[in-house]
Amino acid sequence: MQISRTIRETRRFLCDRRAAGERIALVPTMGNLHAGHEALVRKAMRIADRVTLSLFVNPTQFDDCKDFDNYPRTEHADFEYLRKLDVNLVFAPGFEDIYPADDVRELSVEPGGLAEDLCGKSRPGHFRGVVTVMAKLFNIFTPDYGVFGEKDYQQLVLIKRLVRALNFDVEVIAVPTVRDSDGLALSSRNSRLDAGQRKQAPLLYRTLSAAAKSLSAGGRNFEHVAQEAKRQLQRGGFTPEYVEIREAETLLPITEKSVHGVILAAARLGRVRLIDNVAVMLK
Ligand code: PAF
Repeated sequence: MQISRTIRETRRFLCDRRAAGERIALVPTMGNLHAGHEALVRKAMRIADRVTLSLFVNPTQFDDCKDFDNYPRTEHADFEYLRKLDVNLVFAPGFEDIYPADDVRELSVEPGGLAEDLCGKSRPGHFRGVVTVMAKLFNIFTPDYGVFGEKDYQQLVLIKRLVRALNFDVEVIAVPTVRDSDGLALSSRNSRLDAGQRKQAPLLYRTLSAAAKSLSAGGRNFEHVAQEAKRQLQRGGFTPEYVEIREAETLLPITEKSVHGVILAAARLGRVRLIDNVAVMLK
């Protein structure tokens, strides 16, 4: 496994591989890797000849600088994990490589209105940071495939829009959420739950799954179903931020005519903010 600290070295690796006719997948991460990331790598291995992964804690997507400072940085363990998975190249740049100089640092990609909805309401600027760093990574790697988890569903939709809007020649591949045996979606944040909160946490997935089931069985009072899910989370000790039922492709509000929906939620257990989503088949 090659570890690259610079854009130049990364491009040289990619240029050689491409000259040999190989197809490249990029798995973008912020490190602190777990089985959810492993699923992304394994998917990338099935579809591409070479798997590359970026490991960069992107400061511009943190709305709270304390969150950025406290973000778990486990680079050494991450490298070991990736070596065992047989990833071909890991790009672990410094801040200056990605955000080169003061005069261009303020330039960013504008993600549009969807970035201020759902998770964007409580995390101003978060998705601008995400799409900006992804535009940079797509430019650096020009990968054939970009592989992302469905757990961060709004991020996934915004990255697909970024690719269409800026004409990146990359196929966005979505990988289903990896869950613990009790249903809790894997996330770096789970390690911040205390023992009691860890027991409560699977209620998020159970609640969304039950709501999705009732909609798939013909329930059409979307507002009532979302409110009931919120109440259930509150009864279970969560402080819900939102529970919303949306069109799966666009994240626009669901309508009677929708076929593919998704129910999404963000809710806090103490100071830990969890997100999850479940697909809803409406016809
Ligand atoms: O999902 C993440 O880990 C990050 O938001 C991403 C896509 C790597 C951009 O920094």
